[in-house]
Amino acid sequence: MPVAVVVGMQWGDEGKGKIIDLLAENVDVVARYQGGHNAGHTICFNEKQFVLHLIPSGIFHENKLCVIGNGVVVDPLALVEEMRQLEEAGIDLEGRLVISDRANIIMPYHGTSDKGRESGSGFQKIGTTGRGIGPSYADKIARAGIRTCDLRDETYLKERLRANYDEKQKILKSLYGTELPEFNCLLDELMGYRETILKYIADTHILMRDQIAQGKNILCEGAQGTMLDVDHGTYPFVTSSNSTAGGACTGLGIPPTKVDRVLGVIKAYTTRVGEGPFPTELSDADGERLGKVGHEFGATTGRPRRCGWFDAVVAKYGVHLNGIDALILTKVDVLDGFKTIKVCTGYEYKGKTFLDMPADAEVLENCRPVYTGFDGWSESTVGVKDFDRLPENARRYINRLSELLETPFMMISTGPDREQTIQREPLF
Ligand code: IMP
Repeated sequence: MPVAVVVGMQWGDEGKGKIIDLLAENVDVVARYQGGHNAGHTICFNEKQFVLHLIPSGIFHENKLCVIGNGVVVDPLALVEEMRQLEEAGIDLEGRLVISDRANIIMPYHGTSDKGRESGSGFQKIGTTGRGIGPSYADKIARAGIRTCDLRDETYLKERLRANYDEKQKILKSLYGTELPEFNCLLDELMGYRETILKYIADTHILMRDQIAQGKNILCEGAQGTMLDVDHGTYPFVTSSNSTAGGACTGLGIPPTKVDRVLGVIKAYTTRVGEGPFPTELSDADGERLGKVGHEFGATTGRPRRCGWFDAVVAKYGVHLNGIDALILTKVDVLDGFKTIKVCTGYEYKGKTFLDMPADAEVLENCRPVYTGFDGWSESTVGVKDFDRLPENARRYINRLSELLETPFMMISTGPDREQTIQREPLF
């Protein structure tokens, strides 16, 4: 019963899209367990670049089932648009895409509320993607959400919308001066999406249970990253779901006893988008170079990503929180040509050295990272497929990271294409 969970180890954007696409070759099911269309997974396929926001990256492989789990929040407009783009590219979705009937729907008022909070005064600006993710999860937890299964029954859907409409209308008007569309317009819009997506909606817990029972290989795909987890990340500068490995169980209805492996995808340096503490952030030429060479722009919003050195405090935290069995290192080639490469091994704050991740944003905002320096390499590592062909200093850097994190690197990515990869260990 091989079930593997793949998580991001930093603040998202570790390059999970390419890795999941690659691993998907040897699995039967790829399943997303949290987040929404705030995620952006970039995949290079047939010399074209695709950015997937909701549909699991396994969709580019024939005969793979792609599941959107109950833990995901689904914006029907974004979903239908993504389905259209894939179909135009000749990808057949029928019988391959399954959406949980328990997933919550992102309504237009969630987006309005998200953007209103971010732009208004009186709220802490998080730097969200503005996609309505937080307000939608807030409604889910407040038991006010509308779920995909509600689309099956128009009368019930109407009741659920009615239960929300007047409250949302008052809140949006008084806080942001915004009017909701007419009740019937909202209902009609939902009913319009229903036509397209109803046939893809099913009980994905049963599907996952049956696939596991049949011994199928399953990859559970996490979006965002460990440090954006609502419980364990740099709160309040986080997303609103559990992006850590535990989220795979609740977000897909898989028992913890059925998870066999947990893999962490980690970038050879660090990036983050949006607000919030980032101890190893660089505001110098090195940071600029990482951003430029690494093409560090958000796949969903196009915002430039903040860049910094590898943070082993973050990485170790992620290894322990997620129970990582093996790591996948990405974007090693971006470090080509740096004279010195630094790794943060602790945070100094008010005379104390933190080796474990502190909860307080104040410590993370104001600490001084403790660095170990490594000699860089001048040779290009782009497209290298064999670990022994990497420059000696690149091997030394990777081996040292592995020692620090007490975890092996099963795969190393040396470029955006599927082929630009060093495979050291099979998935199952
Ligand atoms: P939200 O998920 O749109 O509410 O945004 C909350 C925080 O998570 C912001 O800092 C976003 O920039 C960040 N975030 C959300 N999705 C991603 C992602 O896929 N990659 C990187 N950061 C993300």
